[in-house]
Amino acid sequence: MTILDGKKFSNDILEELKEKVAKHKEETGKIPGLAVIIVGENPASQIYVRSKVRACEKVGIKSEKITFPADTTEEELLNKIKELNNDPSMNGILVQLPLPKHMDEKKVCNTIATEKDVDGFKPESLGKLLIGEEDGYIPCTPQGIMYLLDQTNVDLYGKTAVIIGRSNIVGKPVAGLLINRGATTTVCNSRTKNLDEKLRDADIIVAALGSANFVKGNMVKEGAIIIDVGINRVDKKLYGDVDFEEVSKKASYITPVPGGVGPMTIAMLLKNTLKSFEKEGDN
Ligand code: GUN
Repeated sequence: MTILDGKKFSNDILEELKEKVAKHKEETGKIPGLAVIIVGENPASQIYVRSKVRACEKVGIKSEKITFPADTTEEELLNKIKELNNDPSMNGILVQLPLPKHMDEKKVCNTIATEKDVDGFKPESLGKLLIGEEDGYIPCTPQGIMYLLDQTNVDLYGKTAVIIGRSNIVGKPVAGLLINRGATTTVCNSRTKNLDEKLRDADIIVAALGSANFVKGNMVKEGAIIIDVGINRVDKKLYGDVDFEEVSKKASYITPVPGGVGPMTIAMLLKNTLKSFEKEGDN
């Protein structure tokens, strides 16, 4: 069994990005910029945003954290996004989700200019992915998952992949990416009938349902590749969606929580931001 060490891969990618950013700065005097918007006090979001800003600092990307109180109107938020759309020093705009209930997340994300949609959440970005054009912005967690799968050197063509979770952020885009690679892909959720049976047939399992230790050892095939996207806080401790203790005994490759998919998400966000900056230079 091999642990897919997301922390290490992420650090390697950040190092690479740092060198590229430094080179751009030397050649043009310009650096990429990322605006990170957070609305309200969601504690998990605060932690994620802090990690994103810290990673920007590490790599030399300019980051601007914009904090709005929970009772901000949708219009105020949309106005800020429109302002950032026209700010040439900002190559990427990220609105941390979830947003307070009085806001329409789809409308908010869709207000971000497509060329600055470094989260890859817009229909334009996801639509391209689905038709196999992967040169747009691929959502960060799914992109990080594919990076981890690539590290196994396993050819995904013809493999059976089962995803648990059908979110727009993870389940659906990762399904598209696996389908593009020729994996026979099934998207399940916590209420899928005979889920255990489906999981036991899977060469690759992506667990992204948000339920601590949901996937048990008796649900997986010997030699399966296990990607755990879950970050569940129970009594101040972090748990994935996979029971690592049990499942790691059967898996060929498995991601830990923390230190697996999480750091990859951040690395891919910065990669997308640099991509936006470099595209702008082409224009
Ligand atoms: N909330 C949970 N994951 C994400 C993410 O990847 N991007 C944003 N913007 N919000 C999130």
